Amino acid sequence: MPGLVLGLAGSPRRRGNTSILLDRALAGAADGGARVARIELCQLRVAPCIACGGCFRSGACVVEDGFQSILPQLLEADAVVLASPLYFLGLSGWAKAFIDRCQCLWARRYILHQPLPPTSDGRPRRAAFISTAGTPSVPFSGAIATVKAWLRTLDARYLGQVLRAGVDAAGAISGDAGALEEAYRLGRALTG
Ligand SMILES: Cc1cc2nc3c(=O)[nH]c(=O)nc-3n(C[C@H](O)[C@H](O)[C@H](O)COP(=O)(O)O)c2cc1C
Repeated sequence: MPGLVLGLAGSPRRRGNTSILLDRALAGAADGGARVARIELCQLRVAPCIACGGCFRSGACVVEDGFQSILPQLLEADAVVLASPLYFLGLSGWAKAFIDRCQCLWARRYILHQPLPPTSDGRPRRAAFISTAGTPSVPFSGAIATVKAWLRTLDARYLGQVLRAGVDAAGAISGDAGALEEAYRLGRALTG
């Protein structure tokens, strides 16, 4: 029985393209039997990492803000879907700030040698990435490299991605039935 699939929305546009694809992915996960939750990163005001080194001593981030409410859900989730628009060839600042704050998980694993909590089914965590960009043929490689580095810290397997370039206006992705279907299937695959 699949456990929690957590969607992290990294765009400030609630009716934007990555948000719509994330909803489809979470619908697929729900149809696959998972419990789903969605977090709007921009509403939780997660500040960037301040590199204070506090987490190197305890494994916990010492900065008190929205991150503290997300981390338990991240660690509880069997699978995570990160959705972020491409901003200057990388992730949105909202998504990147959140990822940087996961430095406390890096500290747990590589400095303190503490294992992360196991998933509900004992299998490795699974993850997927969703992104859109305004310019046709723009490369997503920078954003993907960041996501994969984050997932190594989270000890999660990268199951796949939905990427669409040449989509700029908020909600334009709704006209791309193929992308919506791909996102649904990706979400469902996370529960398999
Ligand atoms: C700050 C900012 C930076 C952007 N940088 C890029 C970029 O480097 N390349 C690109 O193709 N589109 C870029 N875009 C366009 C968005 O990636 C595009 O509109 C995307 O579909 C937005 O997704 P959303 O609706 O989920 O927010 C940028 C948009 C903003 C607001």
